[in-house]
Amino acid sequence: MNRFHRRGRGLVALASVALTLPLTATLSPAAAAPTPAAPTPAAPTPAPYALVPQPVSQQAVPGAGFTLTPKTRIAVLSKDAAALGVGSYLSKLLAPATGYDLKVVRKAKAPDKALALNPDGPASLGAEGYTVSSDKNGVVVTAHGAQGLFRGVQTLRQLLPAAVESRSKQARTWTVAPAKISDAPRYEYRGVMLDVARRFFPVEQVKRYIDEAAAYKINKLHLHLTDDQGWRIAVDALPNLTKVGAGTQSGFTGGTDWYYTAADYKEIVSYAASRFMTVVPEIDGPGHTMSALASVPELNCDDKAQAPYSGFEVGISLYCLKDQKHKDATKSFLQTVVNAVAELTPGPYVHLGGDETPQATQDEYDSYVKAATDATTARKKTAMGWHQLGQSPLPAGSLLQYWGEDSDRETIGTASEKPGITHLRQGVAQGAKYIMSPSDHAYLDMQYDVSTPYGLSWSGYVPVQRSYAWDPETVTGKLDGTGAIVPAGQIAGVEAALWADRAYEGSNNLPTSSTRWPAPQEYADYMSFPRLPAVAEVGWSPQSARDWSSFRQRLAQHGQRWTAAGIGFHAAPGVPWPGTVRTVEGEHGIVVGNVDGVGLENAGSTSDGTDLVLWAPNRGPKQTWTVAAQSDGTYTMANKASGKCAEASGSAAGATVVQRSCDAARTGQRWRITDRPNDDRHSIASAVGGLVLTAGSATNGAKVTLQSDTGSALQTWTVD
Ligand code: ACM
Repeated sequence: MNRFHRRGRGLVALASVALTLPLTATLSPAAAAPTPAAPTPAAPTPAPYALVPQPVSQQAVPGAGFTLTPKTRIAVLSKDAAALGVGSYLSKLLAPATGYDLKVVRKAKAPDKALALNPDGPASLGAEGYTVSSDKNGVVVTAHGAQGLFRGVQTLRQLLPAAVESRSKQARTWTVAPAKISDAPRYEYRGVMLDVARRFFPVEQVKRYIDEAAAYKINKLHLHLTDDQGWRIAVDALPNLTKVGAGTQSGFTGGTDWYYTAADYKEIVSYAASRFMTVVPEIDGPGHTMSALASVPELNCDDKAQAPYSGFEVGISLYCLKDQKHKDATKSFLQTVVNAVAELTPGPYVHLGGDETPQATQDEYDSYVKAATDATTARKKTAMGWHQLGQSPLPAGSLLQYWGEDSDRETIGTASEKPGITHLRQGVAQGAKYIMSPSDHAYLDMQYDVSTPYGLSWSGYVPVQRSYAWDPETVTGKLDGTGAIVPAGQIAGVEAALWADRAYEGSNNLPTSSTRWPAPQEYADYMSFPRLPAVAEVGWSPQSARDWSSFRQRLAQHGQRWTAAGIGFHAAPGVPWPGTVRTVEGEHGIVVGNVDGVGLENAGSTSDGTDLVLWAPNRGPKQTWTVAAQSDGTYTMANKASGKCAEASGSAAGATVVQRSCDAARTGQRWRITDRPNDDRHSIASAVGGLVLTAGSATNGAKVTLQSDTGSALQTWTVD
């Protein structure tokens, strides 16, 4: 079943998951969830500026910042061509909004009143570390090499007003905030995956996405180039792969150019390289291979080509590996394909897939992995794969990608441990390194909540908080954070993954003739922003510098940058976007304490009289409430899953709160929702006696009752 994972959860609403997020200090200790084994993080660094990802350290410098003029020079303190290239990049980046054509000059020493880029900083900065020092006299970005300069320039960009992201000239002054910043990444590998197989992204849209991701210091672009629904990379020796295999997408047939020619692919690789981003090509197998099976007859057991596939199923295909003749044919095919892809790819990785192959016997799976990894190491490339690849013998130095979720972690150490967990153990034992892409945190195609127009929810809803509040070091452990299967020393980084199974409006439903298919970039923007920056911060910033309360405030400022840049982001709930007035009317999650708290839900019941409970926020229908104003100034709160209203079961202290068929005549269903001073939370009082909605605790399963208002954090609610 696990191998049917992406589909196995189907459209079924998820059971609530256990609370894994640390609670904040605003909740009383007695109310805290079981303490995770990980040490309590130090207080987050104060963040004077809204930088994402949060740097290791930042300080505001007193006084004014540095104001650019058309005469400001970008001074590169080196003859290094790559460093000069970063100078030109910066000049081009600033040109549209400022209207300035800032000259890039080579200098031995930082001049006054300049944007200086010094790539000859100490080696201790590492390949990507940098410092930024800015005051009224100018700005100096220091790094050890051009790559670190490029990362530092992304930070410099965020010290300028949001309007700098505009693609047209803005009449205003441009002042770099005065700061001292010192920074370096937590992980070397910080990736994002685009599923260009199910939905083809033209080159220009890939380049646009590269720029969007590079702004958040993402340094790997994983292209999922092949799947059942399409083969997207030309291989000269196998022209049918693109003649036949590229003619389909999920929901589309008849394409003639839905693939990257060698020249297209090189253009992507070189554009990515200019943003210090490495392209990771994925050739998926032995499953997810219908496009190859439709193009190359001898990959099929009956030596007959399959029909090209444009549907939406998963787990439907497998290379024929039943006998020696077909093993040899697959091996020869993989050699040809891996050779061609490796030839075009300067980066060190070839990703060989390995996910969702329910039909494969162990011998078939092993034979695929041997053939694919041999072809890869023969080209001196590092074999990558989804974590299932760990079940087969792997070459030394392989890199695997974990895409499990809480329901897998729940089985750790039990008799019914999921196969994926076993595969993870097997890969770890072989010394593989890991990239973390937990589907319930880092899959960008999961819906934010029940109202998201695109995507799926088989791994639950992934609101922004969920995409942010996880730690690669504990995400392969039990739900209480202990017992990580992948030790810290074997973690190479993180990757967000934008699958395109449902890149159309209609979400979990299959498309109809009137379905709206947004341009791939529109889908990508909506699903990636703001969650890609969240995962980017997970990969870049030290865990001790990360904090959801700080992140949501910083992130809110970035919405203006995205608007200026024309990025069609989703102004998702949970983030205090400036200029958005959140009213209590409408559909909301109702979360106790601050936004790290647990959400009010109906426990999955549709019956009258069921006690409401609290559970880790997941933004699903059980935790979604339609708040409606009544003529007496009170509100009713109707649950999205059951349609029933929250009702006080009595008026005395200790009365529980239940759900019951909505009936405006029942005063127990009326609530006074009032803003609290000094924060963005609310008190929710019963109209019957005035006692307030109170969480029993902030742990999963806690009940809510009416109590007199003491101002406790357990009586304050975030309605957004
Ligand atoms: C996957 O989501 N099948 C890697």
